[in-house]
Amino acid sequence: MVERIITNSPEETISAAQKIGKLLKAGDIIAYSGGLGAGKTTFTRGLALGLGLGDVVSSPTFALVNEYSGDKLNLYHFDMYRIETEWDLESSGFYDYDFARNIAVIEWSENIGSFLPQNMIRITINTLDELKREIILEGDERFAASWN
Ligand SMILES: Nc1ncnc2c1ncn2[C@@H]1O[C@H](COP(=O)(O)OP(=O)(O)O)[C@@H](O)[C@H]1O
Ligand SMILES: [Mg+2]
Repeated sequence: MVERIITNSPEETISAAQKIGKLLKAGDIIAYSGGLGAGKTTFTRGLALGLGLGDVVSSPTFALVNEYSGDKLNLYHFDMYRIETEWDLESSGFYDYDFARNIAVIEWSENIGSFLPQNMIRITINTLDELKREIILEGDERFAASWN
């Protein structure tokens, strides 16, 4: 299933993401593609809002991961910008997280391509101009018509 939306502001991206956040469940892994400034962190802010975690998201670029905790589950927000090798990934502690009971979103997932599970949710953000983004979500039927 593929969903697509054009947003014209960060606020519109947050509100599109909020709708997806409401549908997320434990075990979900979201892998982003899209360059610097595309809106991956902005989208993640909306996911956290949709999950009921509040306006908690900031960029994890200088950490590998930010964790936001909720009553039932945590949101792990990874930034793989600086990860280049399998050794980097292993020594970062990536494999110690409890992916099955929580939700993970991964910026720069391109950098760990071969280590990602098959059934993840893929989100691609393309910058069309300064305020305009094309967001494409590939995932299961749960997300059908989310942005209609
Ligand atoms: N439609 C839009 N959706 C998301 N961000 C946008 C949009 N238009 C402009 N922006 C700006 O683009 C930047 C996106 O930054 P960020 O979310 O940190 O990107 P990334 O995590 O992909 O590097 C922010 O400064 C945001 O205000
Ligand atoms: Mg970011």
